Amino acid sequence: MTRSTSPQQRNSFQRKVLGYYRQHGRSLPWRATTDPYKILISEIMLQQTQVDRVLPYYTKWISRWPTITDLAQTSRKEVLHAWLGLGYNNRAARLHAAAKSIAERNQGNVLKALEEEKLPGIGPYTKNAVRIFTTNADLVTVDTNIRRILMHEFKLPPFATDKELEALAFQCLPRGRSREWHNALMDYGATVLTSRKTGIKPKTSQSAFEGSDRQLRAQLLQTLLSSSGLRTLKELAAQHSCPSSRLANILDTMVRDGLLEKRKRSYAIKN
Ligand code: ADE
Repeated sequence: MTRSTSPQQRNSFQRKVLGYYRQHGRSLPWRATTDPYKILISEIMLQQTQVDRVLPYYTKWISRWPTITDLAQTSRKEVLHAWLGLGYNNRAARLHAAAKSIAERNQGNVLKALEEEKLPGIGPYTKNAVRIFTTNADLVTVDTNIRRILMHEFKLPPFATDKELEALAFQCLPRGRSREWHNALMDYGATVLTSRKTGIKPKTSQSAFEGSDRQLRAQLLQTLLSSSGLRTLKELAAQHSCPSSRLANILDTMVRDGLLEKRKRSYAIKN
């Protein structure tokens, strides 16, 4: 069931969040542009990664590949290299695949491609975020921060569904100010209503087991990026002090994700 809010409630919520943003809003490079390519890069980098960590990567990336065509024309290896250290490296592989598709099928028109294509790594959250920040359209997007703010402000139960949250977010959207509103919410969530202060946890939090797999994946990627050609399972197992059986599983998921290719029992970065 969708909860409804009174105009007074919405008004005071909006004034609080926008007032905070006017005084303390962060000035960030992707807020100074309406270029959909640049905004897409920022949104992908900002998934599961803090603003401070993203900033140097974003700046370097944009000066190296200022347009989607530049990115599409570069090699996967270079793209993966540039991503090293940011984490969740699948994001880089998918972003590169998306750039190639957008360049080929939609002549580099990012907004058109978002409407027409099913792009790897770009789900409904990212799609709406890019549309909001580029065109200021009256749309909503609910990331972890915004979800937490809504849950706290309207005292929602932990089992509130995505649909309910979206409907509530839409009621609260100040029409015609979507860009400013979403920037404000993101800052308010990151600095005022943090997870620690509210005690509201993200919907999915990662297990220790996933964390250590992810670390190993990153190390394997680094090894394979700095070696030329194929490396055997045995070599990789010795180098990473990891039993071959566990390593084989991890390498196979990297193959499935399109990061690596496998020949017999050897692995390399996929071209
Ligand atoms: N997280 C996701 N998108 C963001 C943005 N535009 N600004 C700050 N944090 C974000």
